[in-house]
Amino acid sequence: MAIILGIESSCDETSASICINGEIRSNVIATQAIHAKYGGVIPELASRAHQQNIIPTVEEAIRQAKVSKNQIDAVSFTRGPGLLGALLVGTSFAKSFALAQNIPLIDINHMQAHILAHFIEDPKPSFPFLCLTVSGGHTQIVLVKDYFEMELLGETLDDAAGEAFDKTAKILNLPYPGGPLIDKFAKEGNPAAYRLPEPQIPGLNFSFSGLKTAILYLVQDQLKQNPDFLTHNMADLCASVQSRIVSILLNKLKKAAKETGVKDIAIAGGVSANSGLRQSLIEMGEKYNWRVFIPKFEYCTDNAAMIAIAGYHKFLKKDFVGQDVAPMARMHL
Ligand code: KG4
Ligand code: ZN
Repeated sequence: MAIILGIESSCDETSASICINGEIRSNVIATQAIHAKYGGVIPELASRAHQQNIIPTVEEAIRQAKVSKNQIDAVSFTRGPGLLGALLVGTSFAKSFALAQNIPLIDINHMQAHILAHFIEDPKPSFPFLCLTVSGGHTQIVLVKDYFEMELLGETLDDAAGEAFDKTAKILNLPYPGGPLIDKFAKEGNPAAYRLPEPQIPGLNFSFSGLKTAILYLVQDQLKQNPDFLTHNMADLCASVQSRIVSILLNKLKKAAKETGVKDIAIAGGVSANSGLRQSLIEMGEKYNWRVFIPKFEYCTDNAAMIAIAGYHKFLKKDFVGQDVAPMARMHL
C-alpha cells in the first residue's frame, strides 16, 4: 500500500493530488484568474497566490480522497522547471509536510511528469515511445525509454508552441491564455484562408518566432485598410494559425517516428488539449499505423495528478531526496 501526495506549483496553477497504489483519487486545481488582466503570468503575483492557495488545496485533495493526513506515505513535488518563486512555495510546503509527518520526500521534473501523465489510466504506452510535449514554456520531442530515462531529440529554438498560441492571441486582442480561445474560434474558420510560413529548421528542432512576426505584419497591414478586420475575420485567422502550428509540430513528430522506427506516439502538456492537434494526430496515426496516446483534458494542462503518479513510480524505486533539496527554475529532462 502506497499513498502519495503530489504538489504542483511551477506556474499559475496550485494543485494537489492523492495517488493510492498508482490510482489517482483526487486532483484539485486552484487556477489563478488574476493573470488574465495583465495578458500573461506575473511571477510575483503567482507566488503570492500559491501561498494563499496551497493549504486549502492540499486539504481538499486529502478530503476528496477520503484518507487521513497520517496515512500518507510520501510527498512528491515539482522541483522545476518553472518560475522560481512559484516553485519555492510548493517545494517549501512539501519539505515541511515531509518533516512534520516523518515521510520521504520525492522531487519531480515537471516536463517528465507531463509525459508520465500517460500512466494514470489505460491504455498506457509501452517503452520506448515518442512524446511531443507542448506547453506554455516548452516544445520537445522526447524518446521515452523508461519512466525516468528520457532522451531529448528536439526542442524549440525560440518560442514554445503554447507561447505561439498566446502571443498570437495577444495580436488578435484576445485575453490570456489565448490557446483555448484560438481553438474555439478555429472550429468556425477556414484553415486555408491565410497562408502562413512553415520554417525550415534542420533536424527535429522547432521555431515559432517567424510565424508570430508573419501574423503581426498580416494583421497590421489588414487593419490599415479595414479597422474592423479582426472582428470579421477572427475565425479564419485562428483556423489558419492553428493549422500552421499543428502542421509544424506534426511534421517533426512524423520525422522523429520515421528516424527512430518507434510506433507508440504520445502528446502531452497544455497544448495537447488543442482539438486541431488531437484530430490531426489521430488521422496521422491511422495513416502511419501508429498507436496514438492523447491525454484526457484534465491531465493536459498543469495538474498535480501527474506529479503524484510520477512520485508513485519513484517511491517504488525508493528514489528520495533530503531536506536540503532546492527548486530549479531551469531543469533538464
Ligand atoms: O502545460 P501548461 O498548462 O503550462 C505550462 O507548463 O506551460 O500549458 C499552458 C499552455 C498555454 O500556452 C495555453 O495557451 C496552452 O497551453 N493551451 C492551449 C489549449 N489549452 C491550453 N493551446 C492551444 N489549444 C488549447 N486548447
Ligand atoms: Zn506544464
